[in-house]
Amino acid sequence: MNVGGKHFRTIWLNEDGRSVDIIDQRWLPHEFRVVTLSTVEDVAVAIRDMWVRGAPLIGVTAAYGMAIQMQADASDAALDAAWEKLHETRPTAINLRWALDEMRKLLKPLPVSERIAAAYKRAAEIADEDVELNRSIGGNGLAIIKEIAARKKPGERVNILTHCNAGWLATVDYGTATAPIYLAAEAGIPIHVYVDETRPRNQGAQLTAWEMAGHGVPHTLIVDNAGGHLMQHGEVDMVIVGTDRTTANGDVCNKIGTYLKALAAKDNDIPFYVALPSPTIDWTVSDGLTEIPIEERSGEEVSYVQGKTETGEIARVRVSPEASPAGNPAFDVTPARLVTGLITERGVAKASRDGLAALFPERK
Ligand code: MRU
Repeated sequence: MNVGGKHFRTIWLNEDGRSVDIIDQRWLPHEFRVVTLSTVEDVAVAIRDMWVRGAPLIGVTAAYGMAIQMQADASDAALDAAWEKLHETRPTAINLRWALDEMRKLLKPLPVSERIAAAYKRAAEIADEDVELNRSIGGNGLAIIKEIAARKKPGERVNILTHCNAGWLATVDYGTATAPIYLAAEAGIPIHVYVDETRPRNQGAQLTAWEMAGHGVPHTLIVDNAGGHLMQHGEVDMVIVGTDRTTANGDVCNKIGTYLKALAAKDNDIPFYVALPSPTIDWTVSDGLTEIPIEERSGEEVSYVQGKTETGEIARVRVSPEASPAGNPAFDVTPARLVTGLITERGVAKASRDGLAALFPERK
């Protein structure tokens, strides 16, 4: 996507052919900083501490982490150690394990001397594939937005609510939930996006709002608790969110608070869509509520907020009493029965085992 007139992906290989550059998302929207990751330790820190985040981007970054490790030491022992180190960084997003497994499956049978070139090639392919998957998701989601727009009176806008950041910053480019939004805006459909701020880390306020502003998409930032009220008053036509792991029967794990939006959407008869590339489907898991590990992050993310002071510094301020402990489950699970449809690269599936199997028959 364009930033200051220049096209950026969220991760790219450096000219040295070894290290990667990433957009360090901790400083957005206030500062656009690019940092270099040169070792597998750098990559692990960048994923764990959320310099990069979003399920697809976590996967691609980990794939490059494996390649960087091959450059340093391509032995079996180093490969397995890198898999473990990267896998333990964030437990919920399945794209991480998917990408690590892709790399290990490819590299293990190869002679050590061939592993470096093969690893960088596959990591680049995974990155390129992500862009293509998102483009296809965009087209499939656009058809739904068009249908809603067709039922509107002339000049009326389509109001879309989204949660967290499933935008280009969460992927390599385009985003999942945002791909249909960008295409609808390009097609001249009058749309408007309600952006949930998404406490505690404010990915909506800091990242999605920045994306929308950067691409000229009309939007309004709202607090997380406003969505239900807006839905009751006819202000939301559809919800589109991303996901960190969707089960084979269509349960959707996504950023904490997604479930409450789905409940409110159901109560108000508003379509609730989830946009996802197939690497986000965990075919080994059926019951999202009991089988998906939910990341518990530091309570400091709840007790403090980060922002820019009037004097221009980026600072963290405490919002709760020192004596109050904070809990911070980072994701929740929306049961399939609350999901209207899963927008994938192959089309829109019913959120059910049969619905997904119809689009991905090879997984039956
Ligand atoms: O904790 P984060 O910021 O990595 O969580 C991101 C989300 O929950 C996204 O909605 C999800 O990864 C889908 S991104 C296309």
